[in-house]
Amino acid sequence: MKKHITRAAVAIAAIAFTCSMSFMTSCKKKDSGTTMTLYDSLGGTTMVDDPYNPGQKVEAGRLGIHKVVDSTILVIAGDTAINSYFTVLLAEVTSGNTSGFTALSKNLTDFFCVATGAKNFTYGGKSMTAAHDPAQNSRMSAKADNGDFDAFVTDLVAGAHKNGLSDVLIGRIGTIVGTLRTQVVQR
Ligand code: HEM
Repeated sequence: MKKHITRAAVAIAAIAFTCSMSFMTSCKKKDSGTTMTLYDSLGGTTMVDDPYNPGQKVEAGRLGIHKVVDSTILVIAGDTAINSYFTVLLAEVTSGNTSGFTALSKNLTDFFCVATGAKNFTYGGKSMTAAHDPAQNSRMSAKADNGDFDAFVTDLVAGAHKNGLSDVLIGRIGTIVGTLRTQVVQR
């Protein structure tokens, strides 16, 4: 199993983008006088080149979140504390099927875009309770406990650090994530 997971981590590494980017760290008023959301602080709606879709533009906030998400999935794939929850995903990637990875990356990116205040995206995945209940999501191998949740947060912080996010911004993401513990932890 360990070998299987390690191969999957390498495979995910091959498809994950790891380019770094810098983020604004201040929380200030927009020109219009409205307060900046966390999404704004992550780059907001400024359009930039999209390395995931060459020739297309993407909101800088979404691109930053997408990079953190993919880095985090990669960290999780190599984290023996919790990668056993992702056996379906890792088996797929190991066999060369990246459809589940792409779908998870999109849903996590949409989720964090909406959670941080993006206006131009919606989250169409399962509720946090359903997504983390094996009875409602066959891709979740078992129910997670508090220790698993803490490990997930550690991996998310590592994914954010890989992409140059400041501790201030990571702290603000951590606050959002913390509110979801009771829905994700189900044993
Ligand atoms: C606040 C923390 C977390 C957030 C925001 C989160 C978010 C999500 C989202 C948005 C999905 C996709 C749902 C869908 O596609 O319908 C998902 C799937 C999943 N999550 Fe979480 N999650 C969190 C914590 C955890 C933890 C602690 C574990 C286990 C240790 C975990 C394991 C999984 C698994 C196995 C899947 C399915 C992956 C796949 O599609 O192959 N998550 N999560």
